[in-house]
Amino acid sequence: MSSAATNIEVIDDDRFDRHGRRVSLRPLGDDWLAVADIAPHDNQREFVPALAARYLLVNARGGPWTSMGVYANEVVAGHIMWAQDDDLSYWIGGLVIDRAQQGMGVGRAAVELLTAWFAGRPDYAVTRLSYDPKNAVAASLYESLGFVSNGEWVDGEVVVERSGTLRGADARA
Ligand SMILES: CC(C)(COP(=O)(O)OP(=O)(O)OC[C@H]1O[C@@H](n2cnc3c(N)ncnc32)[C@H](O)[C@@H]1OP(=O)(O)O)[C@@H](O)C(=O)NCCC(=O)NCCS
Repeated sequence: MSSAATNIEVIDDDRFDRHGRRVSLRPLGDDWLAVADIAPHDNQREFVPALAARYLLVNARGGPWTSMGVYANEVVAGHIMWAQDDDLSYWIGGLVIDRAQQGMGVGRAAVELLTAWFAGRPDYAVTRLSYDPKNAVAASLYESLGFVSNGEWVDGEVVVERSGTLRGADARA
């Protein structure tokens, strides 16, 4: 993976959760502690860390990933991160929606937003991510968004990918 040198702004593109809250992705700023406190349900800890703080710590030490806060209106609802690999593929990682905010459409909107943002970049070809195949919720989310296995595995997780955008009707197809 190459390093994340790009300065990015807020990613906000008319995505809403099921309660009509506007979902946006924002670079870490003064809110970093609220993003660090994002926590999954206890039974999801086999798939992700107990707190998003772990991602923030790892990324603060360098490396390819850029952490962002997932907002529902002005509520800090989750964490997501992105990177670009040496082969120019864009990757999504570290998706955790706070346990109190799950099941409202925030996770779906966050993946749609980031993938659409990737698709607007001039070197865009494909979005990739990996997940534990035992993670049925993640599998359902990504499959419904059109991600398909590319046959690769990383750290015991299946790699899935999708080319093209997730905008408009395409996103809900
Ligand atoms: C996976 C996760 C990010 C989904 O975020 P979310 O905001 O709860 O999901 P959404 O409400 O946007 O739902 C998106 C889809 O996920 C699936 N889903 C959500 N909750 C589900 C549940 N309880 N059971 C089964 N599928 C579920 C559905 O396919 C849903 O589609 P729908 O919009 O047609 O209902 C969230 O559950 C989470 O943070 N889990 C713990 C961390 C994790 O597993 N991250 C992914 C690592 S790869």
